Amino acid sequence: MNEMQVKGTLTKEEKEKAYSQIASVIDLYKNKEGSLIQILHLAQEIYGHLPLELQEFISMNMDIPLSEVSGVVSFYSFFSTVPRGEHTIRVCLGTACYVRGGKKIVEYLQERLGVELGGTTSDGKFTFEIARCIGACGLAPAMMIDDTVYKQVNVNKLDKILDQY
Ligand code: FES
Repeated sequence: MNEMQVKGTLTKEEKEKAYSQIASVIDLYKNKEGSLIQILHLAQEIYGHLPLELQEFISMNMDIPLSEVSGVVSFYSFFSTVPRGEHTIRVCLGTACYVRGGKKIVEYLQERLGVELGGTTSDGKFTFEIARCIGACGLAPAMMIDDTVYKQVNVNKLDKILDQY
């Protein structure tokens, strides 16, 4: 079973377990200053993403308005309200990468993965996003899959890279 299946489509028992773990996290942190972000991080780690239902649960248990919880979730790009893929692909479209072919990589990936930017492949393997400079401008165009940086990427290299996952 891959991560997407574990986190994206939880069984009833898994869901109950996740909610009870999140309730313990809230108990532990809720009286600490600025704890909302930390609680949301841990909740996303446990549940995989932060759907509205879970945001409501957090708001109720922390005794704060839902709008406050939702505001933080939508402000930070590392929070996601939909299930994410097992791996995250981030293609750099900073200036150096853009002029050296980053856009072509984006187009190729859209076609090969059959997914739009911000989306997740139907097999739950990849979430596909854009980055703005990942510090490899000298060897543009660059992209990342999870924490691994790939430099001087081209369409031929891409197939080999993806096949490793
Ligand atoms: S612009 Fe792509 S790595 Fe800097």
